[in-house]
Amino acid sequence: MAGGPREAQGPFVLWLTGLSGSGKSTIADRIYTRLKEKGIKAERLDGDEIRAVFPDTGFDRAGRMAHIARVGYLASVLERNGICTIVSLISPYREARDEVRQRCDRFIEVHVSTPLEVCEERDVKGLYAKSRRGEIIGFTGIDDPYEEPVEPELHIDTSRLTVADAEAAVMNHIASYL
Ligand code: ADX
Repeated sequence: MAGGPREAQGPFVLWLTGLSGSGKSTIADRIYTRLKEKGIKAERLDGDEIRAVFPDTGFDRAGRMAHIARVGYLASVLERNGICTIVSLISPYREARDEVRQRCDRFIEVHVSTPLEVCEERDVKGLYAKSRRGEIIGFTGIDDPYEEPVEPELHIDTSRLTVADAEAAVMNHIASYL
């Protein structure tokens, strides 16, 4: 990567990290749509969708580390080619996210910080219930760690914000890059 100060404007990687059910994909979809409406080149990389393409990706530490690195690499390549890339991935490990940050020119880490109780209450996919019943081992937030970002560019708690307000907060933040 070239030295010198990086330009403030340009493509970016918007990285949404948070628990399952925290609202990452919903926010990612909204931002993607808004960018497209503005005629901006954008792409979305979603954990569930990428896992569907690579079904051997595990949820143990090694599997998740490899998955995050793979998606981070893809995001950095898209960014380098002028595409604003929106990633929605639990990405529970600080170390893995920080490695991706190093790879990208403009890495915007958004902690979708909706509390566990709220995610579990929503339980859109019924996986928290399965986890509590012991039918899934190593579920993030229950019996597997989620390491919160230390200094994310943005916090979004969807238990306190409407989807429209969450979208506005992100759009407001990325306005300086556009
Ligand atoms: S990550 O941890 O590797 O970044 P990713 O975002 O790709 O996760 O996928 C998370 C989705 O996988 C969850 O929303 C949930 O639907 C599903 N899932 C299945 N098993 C687990 C598990 N053990 N922990 C977390 N999510 C799981």
